[in-house]
Amino acid sequence: MGTYRLHAAADRLLDALLDARAVELELLDGLSDTQMLGERAHFLEPPIWEMGHVGWFQELWLSRHLDGEATLLPGSDGIYDSFNVSYRQRWDHRYPSRKQTAEYISKVLRRSVDRLESRTPTAEDAYFYTLAAQHEDMHAENLILILQSLGYARPHWSRFDPAATSPPVVSDYQLRDVAVPGGTFLLGASPDEPFVFDNEKWAHPVVVAPFSIASTPVTNADFQAFVDDGGYRRRELWDRRGWDWRRREQAEHPVFWARGDDGRWYERSFDAMATLRHGIRSCTSTGTRRTRTAAGLAGACQPRPSGRSQRPSSRRPAASGVSPGATTHRRPPARTWTSAPAGPSTCARCPRATAPPAAGK
Ligand SMILES: [Fe+2]
Repeated sequence: MGTYRLHAAADRLLDALLDARAVELELLDGLSDTQMLGERAHFLEPPIWEMGHVGWFQELWLSRHLDGEATLLPGSDGIYDSFNVSYRQRWDHRYPSRKQTAEYISKVLRRSVDRLESRTPTAEDAYFYTLAAQHEDMHAENLILILQSLGYARPHWSRFDPAATSPPVVSDYQLRDVAVPGGTFLLGASPDEPFVFDNEKWAHPVVVAPFSIASTPVTNADFQAFVDDGGYRRRELWDRRGWDWRRREQAEHPVFWARGDDGRWYERSFDAMATLRHGIRSCTSTGTRRTRTAAGLAGACQPRPSGRSQRPSSRRPAASGVSPGATTHRRPPARTWTSAPAGPSTCARCPRATAPPAAGK
C-alpha cells in the first residue's frame, strides 16, 4: 500500500508538470516571431521570455537546487531570473531562438521527469515539483493576459472546459449585498499544510472591520449599467484611490469595451470584437467597504444568475485602486493569485522558493 501511494504521488506530480507544459506550449503555438517579443508594456512580458522562464524556474529548483546540477543553458540566469533581472530589460535581451528555447525547456522537462521516475519522491521533491508546476500554471494565466492585452488571436485551448465559465445559475436569485460583521480571522497557511507559497507563510490573525459586499460577482450587465449611468465621471461614486487610478488611466469604461456606431457596447476578446455578453461574470465584486483582505475572506467568484441586472447603477467601484471588473480593465491585474508585495524589478508572478513545510521553516 505504501509503495502504491508513493507511485500515485509521483504520478500526480508528473501529471501536474506535464499538464502545465502542455497548456503553456498551446498558448504559445501560433504566435509569430514578432509576437513572441510583443510590445514593451508594464507587466506584459514578452512571450519568448515567458517560454524560457518557466523552464528556467523548473530547472532552478528541480535539478539545480535539489541535485546540484549545472544549468543546461549557460547565461540563462541573466535573462530569466525574475528576482534579479529587471522586467524592463525583457525586451532587450539577446534571446536564444524560439527553437533553441523550446529545446531548452524540453530538455529541462525531460530531466525533471526522468528524475522523478527514477526514485521515490521525498517530501522535498513533492514540494518543489508542485512549486514548478503551479508556477508554470501561473505563467499560463499571465500568457493569456498578454495575448488578450496585445490583441493576439485566441489561442487553441484543447484542455479548456467551456462549462467552467458557465456554472449553474439560479434563475430566481435575488441580487443583494451581504453584511459581514467583521472580526478576527486567520490569514495565511498553517504549517501542517503539504504545500504553501512563500507569501502564505504563516497564518496570523487579522482584524477586519465590518463591511458589506455583493454576494455574487458583477456581470457585464451590472457594469454596463454603471458605465451608462456616467459612473466613470461621478466623483462621489469613487474612493480616493479609485478616482486617482481612473484619472491617471483616463478610464471612461472597461479597457476592452467599445461603443459601436449603433450605440451598443462591444467587447474585444483577443483579436475579435463581439457584442457585449451581459451574463458574463467579472471575477470581482463591488462592495461598500471592500478591502483586499475582505475580498479574500468573502470570496469573489461565486456562481450567479445571468440576465438583466437589478443592481443599482450607482454602486461604488472597488476600492484600493483596483478597478472593478479587473479582468477587463485598463490596468492588467498585476498579481491575480497573491497579495504579497512585489518590487517593480522582479516578476510579480514568481513565488520565491521556500522550504517545504515538513522542514519546519
Ligand atoms: Fe515566474
